Parts: sequence; C-alpha cells; structure tokens
Amino acid sequence: MGKVCCAILLLCSMVIAIPIVNGIDQSPQGVAKWFKNQPKMKEKVTKLHFYFHDQVSGKNPTAVIVAQANTTFQSPNLFGLVVVIDDALTVGPEPNSTIVGRAQGTYSSAGLDDAVAAMSLNFVFTSGAYNGSTLSVLGRNAVLHTYREMPIVGGSGVFRLARGIATAKSYSFNATSGDAIVEYNVVVLHY
Ligand SMILES: *[C@@H]1O[C@H](CO)[C@@H](O)[C@H](O)[C@H]1NC(C)=O
Ligand SMILES: *[C@@H]1O[C@H](CO)[C@@H](O)[C@H](O)[C@H]1NC(C)=O
Ligand SMILES: *[C@@H]1O[C@H](CO)[C@@H](O)[C@H](O)[C@H]1NC(C)=O
Ligand SMILES: *[C@@H]1O[C@H](CO)[C@@H](O)[C@H](O)[C@H]1NC(C)=O
Repeated sequence: MGKVCCAILLLCSMVIAIPIVNGIDQSPQGVAKWFKNQPKMKEKVTKLHFYFHDQVSGKNPTAVIVAQANTTFQSPNLFGLVVVIDDALTVGPEPNSTIVGRAQGTYSSAGLDDAVAAMSLNFVFTSGAYNGSTLSVLGRNAVLHTYREMPIVGGSGVFRLARGIATAKSYSFNATSGDAIVEYNVVVLHY
C-alpha cells in the first residue's frame, strides 16, 4: 500500500514537474537549445505596469521583519531593518485589484543618513503571456524620492537575459498601519 502510494505520488510529481513555462522548455537541454538559437533572435522591448502592495499590518501580512540591529528603532531611518516580502502585484491600485504576480525577496534599510531600502527581489508573474516568468531587481530605493530607478538585472522564462529599468513611485502610504502601495513601470530588453 505504502509503495503504491509512493509510486503514485512520484508519478504525479513527475507529471506536474514537466519543465515548461508557457511553451518554454526549462530543462537543461531546452536551455542549451535556447542559447544555441539566441544569436539569431531579435532583442525586443517590453513595458510592464503594475502596483505593488507592501502589506505589513493585519492578520496576513505579506511583508515581515526578520532582523534588526539593537539600534534600528532609535535610528532615524531604521538602519539595519531587514524585511522579507511576498507582496501582491496588481493591475490597479485598489487592494482588490486583479493580481498579476508577486514580488518575492528582501529589502533592508541601508541608509544611515537617508531613507533608503536596498532591494533584492524577484517579480514572478502569474497570468497571461508572462505566467511563470520572472524578473530580478537589485537596486537602491530612496523611498522618499518621487521616482526611484532600479536596475532589472536578469530574468527567466520569457525574460531570459533580460535587462532593464524599474521605476517605482509611491501611490499611497498609511502611516498608521505602515502599509504602502507603490506604482511600478518596468521597461526590459529581452529576446
Ligand atoms: C546589543 O544587545 C546585546 C544584547 O542585549 C548587547 O549584549 C550588546 O552590547 C548590544 N550592542 C550594542 C552595540 O548596543
Ligand atoms: C473592489 O472594491 C470596490 C469598493 O471597495 C468595489 O466597488 C469594486 O467592485 C471591487 N472590485 C472588484 C474587482 O472586486
Ligand atoms: C499560470 O501557470 C500555472 C502553472 O503552469 C497554472 O496552473 C495557472 O493556471 C496559470 N494561470 C493563468 C492565469 O494562466
Ligand atoms: C490606515 O490603517 C489603519 C490601521 O490599520 C486603518 O484603520 C485605516 O482605515 C487605514 N487608512 C486608510 C486610508 O486606509
């Protein structure tokens, strides 16, 4: 009985684990083939627009503090705070707007004298043509500036070898709860 269950589980996981994202073969052979063909592919520009919901409050926060220094909460810019996020990305700014992806990763307060978050995160898209594809952001987010430009340093799926710019602009911040909604415009070059 146990063995049968195991076999069924294995079979199911094998079926589920077919490494294809929206028609892209993600097996090592598929990746090798993609690279072989890559010199013939034309680079294109894709623009994305969404809202990022950084929810620290409530019963189901999507942004949680995982580390801090002794001095963090005496520091004017919360220097040393580390936050892990799995924030929803939506079409519009409303909390109930359609979700198109998540922002998963960390940001840390990295400015002694200014309000700066060092961002290290992946956008993972969950709908449409980009479903299952990711973009990686590594950048400096001076949160009080109107526009914060951050590099897109790579991607996966349809965004293989992506490079580009993410521009963040605060949409709303609730000083009581700490929840923020941020508008993102992303422009990427990819194949
Ligand atoms: C930080 O807190 C720990 C434990 O309370 C203490 O031993 C240490 O001296 C503190 N460090 C600083 C820089 O205040
Ligand atoms: C979102 O909420 C607003 C009011 O809170 C409502 O008018 C709207 O229909 C909702 N939209 C969706 C897609 O549920
Ligand atoms: C996205 O892809 C996942 C896994 O391949 C699939 O289960 C899901 O239905 C897709 N979602 C949409 C909106 O296409
Ligand atoms: C801000 O957050 C507080 C505490 O969660 C909540 O009571 C209030 O309604 C929020 N304000 C807005 C404008 O959403």
